[in-house]
Amino acid sequence: MRHLIDLLDLSADEITHLLDEAASLKAARQRGEYVPILPGRVLGLIFEKPSLRTRVSFETAMAQLGGVSVFQGGKECGLGSRESVPDFARVMSQYVDTVVLRVYKHATVEEFARYSTCPVINGLSDYCHPCQALGDLLTVRELFGAVAGRTVVFVGDGNNVARSLAVGCGKLGARFVLAAPDGYHFDEDFLRTYKAKVTGGELVQNGDARHSVGDADVIYTDVWTSMGQEEERERRNAHFGPYQVNESLLALAPAHARVMHCLPAHRGEEVTDGVMDGKQSVVFQQAGNRLHAQKALLKWLMT
Ligand code: CP
Ligand code: NVA
Repeated sequence: MRHLIDLLDLSADEITHLLDEAASLKAARQRGEYVPILPGRVLGLIFEKPSLRTRVSFETAMAQLGGVSVFQGGKECGLGSRESVPDFARVMSQYVDTVVLRVYKHATVEEFARYSTCPVINGLSDYCHPCQALGDLLTVRELFGAVAGRTVVFVGDGNNVARSLAVGCGKLGARFVLAAPDGYHFDEDFLRTYKAKVTGGELVQNGDARHSVGDADVIYTDVWTSMGQEEERERRNAHFGPYQVNESLLALAPAHARVMHCLPAHRGEEVTDGVMDGKQSVVFQQAGNRLHAQKALLKWLMT
């Protein structure tokens, strides 16, 4: 039995296989085909935090693949409060065939997976967001034909989304640059793990967004304040001001560069309206690809 807790759980070949499957499921969907490969299968979603893309794309994926999903969110799920994580996992995993967890603490997904008798998918933790990275890699591949050899410049916080994307880019042979203010780069633990487990790509960190975008194929950003960090918002806004992805930063990038954002965006903070809605933005194509990448993941884990 396999889980997807961190993109490090997948080999480069497995990621490529999932992207191939995702492209083929996307093409089938665009031809209007129904692909009921998961009849009678149930996906459980346990979400401590809000979600549009992750929740709706997983639920829609199950419907389009002939299965169903059940959702518990917010305080109602009581994961670790109403009931311990091991007890929850041992019960829940008898009812459903796969569980998606969206949690505050990454340790919660790891603990759940240790006790679960069915596959567990990390639908975002404070540490990483592997499902987002799968959709992002699919998008980069659609845009440029391949991920290998491309330069992805992440401007902003070295957060959950950035970690998973750095791993995915590294595994598929791309160059990942994190341009972040002091104090918001990847920490030593992550860098050690990356060096030990990722070969093929390149990971660079610096504090200079304007210089970094000069050879970017993709400029990626995300919110400066992630869910669970709300009390740090004022301090973060002060630190990240010079890291806004705006028209003047984009003017320093090659004309072919595309702008990505995992969404939801805080328009006017990490990205301007002009860039989000501009002709180099692919953020909605990217959001759409969450559906196809996750269908491939469900097929892989459940069949
Ligand atoms: N990008 C993403 O995970 O969006 P949601 O928080 O809406 O699921
Ligand atoms: N870094 C953001 C991503 C949201 C999809 C957060 O964790 O809130």
